[in-house]
Amino acid sequence: EVRGDEKIEQKYAHTISTLPKKKSWGQELHRYQGFWYFPVALDGVMSVQHNFKARPTDILLVSSPKSGTTWLKALTFAIVNRNVDDHTSNQVMHSSNPHEYVPHIEVVHLYTNNTITGLDAMPSPRILATHIPYSSLPKSTKDESGCRIVYISRDIKDVFVSDWHFFNNNNQPDSKEPFSLEEAFESYCDGVSAYGPIWDHQLEYWKASIERPQDVMFLRYEEMMEDPVNSVKRLAEFVAQPFSVEEEEGGVVEEIVKVCSFEYLKNLEVNKEGEFRCSNMKFKKQSFFRRGVVGDSRRCLTPEMIERLDKIAEMTMPSSGSNP
Ligand code: A3P
Repeated sequence: EVRGDEKIEQKYAHTISTLPKKKSWGQELHRYQGFWYFPVALDGVMSVQHNFKARPTDILLVSSPKSGTTWLKALTFAIVNRNVDDHTSNQVMHSSNPHEYVPHIEVVHLYTNNTITGLDAMPSPRILATHIPYSSLPKSTKDESGCRIVYISRDIKDVFVSDWHFFNNNNQPDSKEPFSLEEAFESYCDGVSAYGPIWDHQLEYWKASIERPQDVMFLRYEEMMEDPVNSVKRLAEFVAQPFSVEEEEGGVVEEIVKVCSFEYLKNLEVNKEGEFRCSNMKFKKQSFFRRGVVGDSRRCLTPEMIERLDKIAEMTMPSSGSNP
């Protein structure tokens, strides 16, 4: 007898076996609906497409990997929960990694009875996250009564450098040679990286934010670093939880910025050691907090590499003042 969830797994496995593939990053990536995926992520994406039902109260945080997901998760959680139960949310934020209190929908893909049970059981308003490209998001996230989507974008050069470090930090046992920067770079420039090409990923969300500004917000890592207080205020307004005058005068915004800052999160005991495990993936918690600066790619890439990625960004993204 074949269980329902086994049948679904077989169906996904069959679809995956028919997809275009490329060897890179020490594995075989698959191209699905125009984007590249590590095999470990793909059945989760398909499961989300088939099963995930957005609620109007949902807040969906979206990013390309290494664009500031962890930061956005902490900020949004802190904003939304600031008046719920101060003690509890504070405790959650100090005792867990942001990836534990804001789940990635394609990673929490439990197909029991063909539903994403863990997510269904979450009380509203849910704060959820995903790396799924806009064009591949399940329909319910884009309906009239759909959720709010917050996208964080980052300079693709810094994302590449961050991604390369993260990959080697998590995937290479000490005895193994790290995946070379040069090889990773070629792949990245071909768009072959997790959820890549990143420029298409960013562009899709940027367009959506222009077309549906009420529902899709487009944030930039660099702007948030430059003016975190203002960014946090804008984010709070977007998720319909603006700060009151009393809160602003009382320093609530600054406090949120502080407890979500790179230094603060990095130095929490809970983020110093151990692994974050979810489904069939595991990552060192400290690998989510590396340097947390703008322009680190200048330190790590050659001028030629920088030029090449800048050209790609120029060619693939609109050249208006408000380009992604
Ligand atoms: P670097 O590798 O450049 O340091 P993601 O959260 O999407 O995986 O992205 C990780 C990147 O965001 C890493 O970049 C990490 O250091 C940085 N980061 C993590 N927490 C941050 C925070 N609170 N503020 C700013 N940057 C942060």
